[in-house]
Amino acid sequence: MKKYQFSQLGLVNTRAMLQLAMEGRYAVPAYNFNNMEQLQAIILGCARSASPVILQVSGSARKYIGPSFLPHMAQAAVDLARDNGSAIPVALHLDHGSSFELAKECIDSGFSSVMIDASHHSFADNVALTRQVVAYAHDRDVTVEAELGILAGIEDEVSAQHSTYTRPEEVERFLEQTGVDSLAISIGTSHGAYKFKLQPGEEPPPLRFDILEEIEQRVPGFPIVLHGASSVTREHVEMINRYGGQMDNTAGIPEEQLRRAAASAVCKVNIDSDGRLAMTAIIRRVFAEQPGEFDPRKYLGQAREELIELVVHKNTAVLGSAGRVE
Ligand code: G3H
Ligand code: 13P
Ligand code: ZN
Repeated sequence: MKKYQFSQLGLVNTRAMLQLAMEGRYAVPAYNFNNMEQLQAIILGCARSASPVILQVSGSARKYIGPSFLPHMAQAAVDLARDNGSAIPVALHLDHGSSFELAKECIDSGFSSVMIDASHHSFADNVALTRQVVAYAHDRDVTVEAELGILAGIEDEVSAQHSTYTRPEEVERFLEQTGVDSLAISIGTSHGAYKFKLQPGEEPPPLRFDILEEIEQRVPGFPIVLHGASSVTREHVEMINRYGGQMDNTAGIPEEQLRRAAASAVCKVNIDSDGRLAMTAIIRRVFAEQPGEFDPRKYLGQAREELIELVVHKNTAVLGSAGRVE
C-alpha cells in the first residue's frame, strides 16, 4: 500500500486541537464516517460552523471503504473545506484500533491520530500494547488515544455486554507508563442506539460525573475522550419508524449531559450513531414518499443535507466547538 505522512494530505494531529479545547472548555467533535456523503457532510458542517474536526474510521469502516481510498478521501475533505473558504484543522483518526499492526498500517498510510483500544485486556497488557503504539506513532508525530474502563456495546471487533467504569486510581499510572496523548474513559455512556433499557417515561441515568471529576483532579489538564456520546435524536428515530423502520426502546445521552461533559476535561466527543440515524431517516422518507425514485443522488443528497444540519447543531448547541477557528 502506498505510504503517506499525514501533513502531505493537509491533515494535523490532535495535540493542539485538544489542548485548545481544554483551555476553551469545549470538546472537539469526532464524527465517524463510512462513505463519501457522510464525509462531505461532516466537513461541510464543521466548515460552516468554524469548528475543528476529527474524522474517524473504525477498522471495519476502513475495510468497507478500502484502505487505499482513505488518504485520498481525507485529502479531498481538506480541499473541500479550503474551497469553502474555511481554515479548520482536520485530523484523520483510527477509532478503536485493535492491534499494533492495524495502528501501524494506518499511521503509514496518512492517519494523523490513532486509538489503540486494549481496554478489555488486563492493565499490564493494555499498558504494553499502548506503549508499543505510542513509540511508533510519536516517532512520526502521530497522536495516540487509549482507553481505560469498558463501554458496553459494539466497539468494532471489540464488543462487551456490560460496562466497567474507569478506575480513577489507575489513570495516573497508566498515563505515566504509556505516554499516551488522550484517554477514553467509561462513565456510563455506551455504543449504539440502545444505550439504556428504560421503562416508559423514565429518563436515562446521569453520567458518572463524580468519576470524571476525580480523574480531572488526579491528572489536571489531561485531555479526556468520551465515546458512545450520541443522543439518539428522537426526531430521527420517529421518522425511521414512521417510514417502515422498526427501532424500539432506543435511548441516548441527553444533550444537557454532553454540554456539561464538554465544559470539563472532556476534549473529544465521539459521534457515530446519530449520523447513521439522520441519514437512514431521510433515505426511508424519500423511499416512502417517492417510491419511483431510484437515483442515489436523490436520496443520498437529501441525507447529506440532513447530516450537515446535525453536525452544525452538535457543534453549536452541544459541544461548543463552533466559532473556535478564525
Ligand atoms: O465505536 C464504534 C463505532 O461506532 C464504529 O462502529 O465498527 O460499526 O464501524 P463500526
Ligand atoms: P455512538 O454509538 O454513541 O455514536 O458512539 C460512537 C463512538 O463512540 C465511536 O467510537
Ligand atoms: Zn467508541
